[in-house]
Amino acid sequence: MEVTGWLCLCLLLHCIELASSLRGKLLFSNSTSIMEFDVATQNVTPLIEHAGSRLFALDFDYSKGYVYFPRALQQEIMRFPYTSTNRTLQTVVKTGLLPVGLAVDSVNEHVYWIEYYGFELYRCNMDGTNITVLSTLRNPFVIRLDVTNRWIYILETQPTASRILKSRFDIAITQTIVNLTTHVLCMAIDNDENRLYWMIDDGDIQSAKDDGSDVKTILSTNVSISNCAIDVFGSYVYYAYGSHLLLLNKAQETQTVLCNYTSRIDGIFVFKSGRNNTKIWRGIPLMCKFHAIRKPLKNQIQILIAWTSLTQN
Ligand SMILES: *[C@@H]1O[C@H](CO)[C@@H](O)[C@H](O)[C@H]1NC(C)=O
Ligand SMILES: *[C@@H]1O[C@H](CO)[C@@H](O)[C@H](O)[C@H]1NC(C)=O
Ligand SMILES: *[C@@H]1O[C@H](CO)[C@@H](O)[C@H](O)[C@H]1NC(C)=O
Ligand SMILES: *[C@@H]1O[C@H](CO)[C@@H](O)[C@H](O)[C@H]1NC(C)=O
Ligand SMILES: *[C@@H]1O[C@H](CO)[C@@H](O)[C@H](O)[C@H]1NC(C)=O
Ligand SMILES: *[C@@H]1O[C@H](CO)[C@@H](O)[C@H](O)[C@H]1NC(C)=O
Ligand SMILES: *[C@@H]1O[C@H](CO)[C@@H](O)[C@H](O)[C@H]1NC(C)=O
Repeated sequence: MEVTGWLCLCLLLHCIELASSLRGKLLFSNSTSIMEFDVATQNVTPLIEHAGSRLFALDFDYSKGYVYFPRALQQEIMRFPYTSTNRTLQTVVKTGLLPVGLAVDSVNEHVYWIEYYGFELYRCNMDGTNITVLSTLRNPFVIRLDVTNRWIYILETQPTASRILKSRFDIAITQTIVNLTTHVLCMAIDNDENRLYWMIDDGDIQSAKDDGSDVKTILSTNVSISNCAIDVFGSYVYYAYGSHLLLLNKAQETQTVLCNYTSRIDGIFVFKSGRNNTKIWRGIPLMCKFHAIRKPLKNQIQILIAWTSLTQN
């Protein structure tokens, strides 16, 4: 009786978790605009034009409701209110050469960014005041934060020697946790499973624990492409492949085309619903450690659209 009760609860919570991650919204950018994508309806809504810059990073201030992004060529960090209908762009800070990576810490109210040719990691307040240089780097491209555990992850990119660095919030970079022998332009952190995800330039999606151990390829596509857009939430990795927006089911290693867009996608940001309540969501996987039951269950409630081969255009 008691067991049945727990199983039902698990079933219910798992359905909620799956359904909510497939019901969410995400933002993506092409070389001129930022779009909102509704995962359930597959509607694409253009939000703003960002004036012809390349835009690789998007992040959200969950407490005040602003989307932040760097305009690499214009050398500035911008923001606009979301989901407000008045999406007037505001300049937060003027930067050095080629700001490409950005991450927002909504809890401590800081914006972090890195400059590809400036070689530096910076932090400022949400309104652009109090700019501080934190560290010197070598061609940094992506920054991600684990706010709960106070870790910064940085991807430095080189044609044959990219690497992932890990640092505490307030001190200089000390640890290289992953050495890669290829060009990598994207990386995301899964705060629930404490894993990092990235795509190498032969199209494989790889993953490692957040201490750099257990590096593995979770999807092998054999199609070479330089992808800059990846994000992770719940059971899924969201990523771009040229102009295609795709969803990878982490457990089943199956992928689905969410959207065939009309132009190349450079950046992706997935809204993490419940980000304000991470403790509640953290508890769910613990209750659902019935792997044998969990797997077929996932199959039954699959709502994924038909599998589409990447080689199809
Ligand atoms: C998150 O929590 C903060 C502080 O509790 C609150 O002000 C804010 O509205 C919440 N944001 C969202 C998106 O729920
Ligand atoms: C929109 O927001 C901007 C910047 O906050 C403000 O200057 C402007 O007056 C607002 N426009 C409207 C129509 O509310
Ligand atoms: C500005 O940054 C410095 C260094 O990080 C910090 O010690 C100080 O408290 C900050 N001041 C404000 C007003 O944010
Ligand atoms: C990465 O490479 C550097 C330099 O070759 C080396 O010092 C470091 O131990 C390596 N780290 C890992 C985690 O492989
Ligand atoms: C990729 O290539 C490897 C080795 O050539 C092969 O084993 C694998 O099946 C290929 N994968 C796909 C998805 O084509
Ligand atoms: C994307 O394009 C492929 C190949 O043309 C097609 O099979 C698929 O249904 C499309 N997917 C969406 C979501 O439009
Ligand atoms: C980016 O997407 C917007 C909105 O759909 C579109 O108007 C614009 O032409 C696209 N940019 C490029 C370079 O295709």
